[in-house]
Amino acid sequence: MAQRPYIVGNWKMHGTRAMVAEARAIDRAAERLIKVEVALAPPATLIQAIRKEASLIGVGAQDCHTAEGGAHTGDISAAMVKDAGAGFVIVGHSERRANHGETDADVRAKAQAALAVSINVIVCVGETEGQRDAGQAEAVVASQLDASLPRGEHVLERVTVAYEPVWAIGTGRTPTTEDVAAMHRAIRAKLLEIYGEGAEAVRILYGGSVKADNAAALLAADEVGGALVGGASLTAESFVGIVVAAAERLEHHH
Ligand code: 13P
Repeated sequence: MAQRPYIVGNWKMHGTRAMVAEARAIDRAAERLIKVEVALAPPATLIQAIRKEASLIGVGAQDCHTAEGGAHTGDISAAMVKDAGAGFVIVGHSERRANHGETDADVRAKAQAALAVSINVIVCVGETEGQRDAGQAEAVVASQLDASLPRGEHVLERVTVAYEPVWAIGTGRTPTTEDVAAMHRAIRAKLLEIYGEGAEAVRILYGGSVKADNAAALLAADEVGGALVGGASLTAESFVGIVVAAAERLEHHH
C-alpha cells in the first residue's frame, strides 16, 4: 500500500438516527488511527447528521442521479448529496447494477455527475460467481472499468476503484489473497492504460466479506489500497478492528 490506506464503510439500507452514535464512535477511534483514511457512506437520510457529528472521517453517499436536477421523483443529485455534506459518492455498486439495472454507461454518467460538482467518486466493479467459474473474471472487470470510469480533468485526484466480487458480498466467502492480488494487478494495468502514469496513485479497494479477522490478509495483497466494508461497518466495534488492521499493515511496511 503505497498510498494512505482507505477504509470505507458502506451502510447500505441500514441506519436510522439511532446509529449516528455509532458513526461518532467510529470518528473518535479514527482520531487515534490517523494514518488510515476512514469514511462512511450511510443512507442519504443520515449524511447531514453524521457530517455534523463526525469531525475526522469522510462522509459520502451510496448513489446519485446522473442529472443535475429535474423531474426524477425519489432520486437525489450529486449536488444534493454534496449540499448535505457528502465528500464522495459510491457509484456502480453491484446491488445497484443488479437491483436497478444500472449499466456501465449509467455508472459512468453518475461518476461524471459527481466530478462535475467536485466531489470524489468510488467506482465499483466485480464479477459474478458464474463469470469467475467461466474464467472471465478479469475480462469482465476490465470491460466494466473501460465503460464505467469517468474521464476528464481532475479524475485522478478524485477517483477510487472498488473491486467487489459479487459472490463475496455478504456471504462470508472471500477470494484467496493470490486471487485478490492478481485481480488488483490487472485493475492497476487497466487504469494505467486508461489514464496513463498518473493512475499509479489511484487507490484500489477490495470489498466483499471484509471482517476484522481477515482484513490483515486481504490488505496485504498486492495493489490493495484499502477496503469497502458492508456488514462489518455497522458497528464501531467491528469496523474499528478493520481500521486497526490497516494501521498495523502500514507499520509492517515502514
Ligand atoms: P459485505 O462487507 O457485507 O460483504 O459487503 C461488501 C459491500 O458490498 C460493500 O460495498
